[in-house]
Formats: sequence, structure tokens, C-alpha cells
Amino acid sequence: MDLQKEIDFHQNVPELEEPVRPTEVAKFEEYAQAPDPGRNPLHRFLRHIHEHRPETILELGCGAGQLTTRLAKIGYQVTALELSPELLEATRMRAAMDGVSGRVETWQGDLTQFDCGDRRFDMVVAKLVLHHLDLEAALRMITRSLKPGGVLVVWEPVAFSTALQALRDVTPVKKEVSPNERQLTRADLARIRSCFANCQEDLFYLFARLHRVFPDHHLTRILLRGLECFDAFALANCPPLRHFAGTAVLCLRKPHQE
Ligand SMILES: C[S@@+](CC[C@H](N)C(=O)[O-])C[C@H]1O[C@@H](n2cnc3c(N)ncnc32)[C@H](O)[C@@H]1O
Repeated sequence: MDLQKEIDFHQNVPELEEPVRPTEVAKFEEYAQAPDPGRNPLHRFLRHIHEHRPETILELGCGAGQLTTRLAKIGYQVTALELSPELLEATRMRAAMDGVSGRVETWQGDLTQFDCGDRRFDMVVAKLVLHHLDLEAALRMITRSLKPGGVLVVWEPVAFSTALQALRDVTPVKKEVSPNERQLTRADLARIRSCFANCQEDLFYLFARLHRVFPDHHLTRILLRGLECFDAFALANCPPLRHFAGTAVLCLRKPHQE
């Protein structure tokens, strides 16, 4: 993995092009309530966090800190680990603006090599991060960082179908794809599961993955909600379609005995 290329790529992401602003109240409410876990991967991811009520969370690859400060506002104690110093600075600024600096700790570094010392967390969360990493090194770090019985919650893009993977690579749609990025395969998910005692897996996005090509407009947001509902129904009722899902949310528990 070329870490410098990854850092350089993340210096030009949209989050760093605009000044950091305080988070709107509606966003905090959405993150606290996560009302649609059946059709929306973000809400499924958040519900797993809320259901386990962790006192301490280690957030991997926090980016510009949107999830970080929203979790902190809900009341969690969040340690945010990020490779890019610029994104971590944006996280600190956002935490200050959202009034949650006291519940946010920031660590800068390559998580695959990161040593948390004696610190162990109730929960590790990774939102759209593992697919940038050497999976084996990331899993070693995650299992070391969790307390016995601790929980890992993951949300990642997946491609089980090689045809879909190839299609994504040739379509002219603009993708914000960093040099180290790939979609996770079935074998990757099986490898993640093998490190934990139990796992809940939910798949999302057949047609809703088209949201990348939609302009951001209230009509397209309504269309997206419709597609998410259709996808949730199809994935629940037609198992062969799961092969074509675009996103997975996993919740895994580390064994109590190490
Ligand atoms: C797609 S972004 C997701 C950011 C954030 N989790 C979100 O959902 O908005 C991936 C993040 O992982 C970070 N990252 C990539 N490789 C990393 C590494 N080896 N150690 C720590 N963070 C890393 C990147 O800098 C980037 O902020």
C-alpha cells in the first residue's frame, strides 16, 4: 500500500474544499434516531452502535469527522484515528464547532501499524474504510484494540459479481476512488467474519447505487428513497439478487475469551 498516495488523494477531497461548518440539528436527530435501518445502510450502521450502547468507540479513518462529532453529540466517547493530518484537523475543528471537543480524542497515523498501547475499546467502527486497507493488517489492529466481548461495526462497498466490478471500472461516471481502494469480495467478508464469534450481515443497494449519477435535488432524493425501498424488498425476498448488492453492513462480536 502506498500511504503517501492515499494521503495526497485525500488532500483534494470535497470535504477539504469548503470551510468546516457546524452540523445542522436535523443531522444530529437523524443520527440519533436512525429511523430506516431496513433500507438505509447508514441507519443500519447507526442502529448497531446504539443497540450496543458502547462507552468508548474507536472510529477508524474518520475523514473530516462528520460521523465523529454526531456520535459524540449523542453522548459517546469517540477516539478518531485518521491517516490524513488535514482531515484530522477538520475533525478537530468540527468537534469544537459542534461543542463536543471534550468527547472527541484524535489520533493521527496509519491504522494498520497503529499501536493503541494499553487502550482497549468497547466498540470499533469503520465506515467506508476497510476497502482502502491491507485487510489482514487492519483485522490484526482491530482485534487488538477491542476489549473481550467488544463489537466491530463495519459499512463497506462490496462487489460479489465480477461483471459488476468490471462495469464499475469502465463506466464514465466520476468516482472518488483513491489509489488503494477496491470493493470487498465475498472472500473478504468471510475473512472478517472468521476473526469474530458472531456476525450479523445486511446487504443494500441494487438500483439505489445509481445515486452517484443523480444530481442532489429534493426530487432525486425522493427517487433514491423509492429505489432503496425496492432494493430492500428485493434483497429480502429474492436471495439470488444478493449477489448483486453494492453495500454491506456487518456487526461482529469479539469472543469473550482471547
Ligand atoms: C472514504 S474515506 C471515509 C471517511 C469517513 N469514514 C466517512 O465515512 O466519511 C476513507 C478514509 O480512510 C482514511 N484512511 C485510508 N487509509 C488509512 C490508514 N492506513 N490509516 C488510517 N486512515 C486511513 C482516509 O484518509 C479517509 O479519510
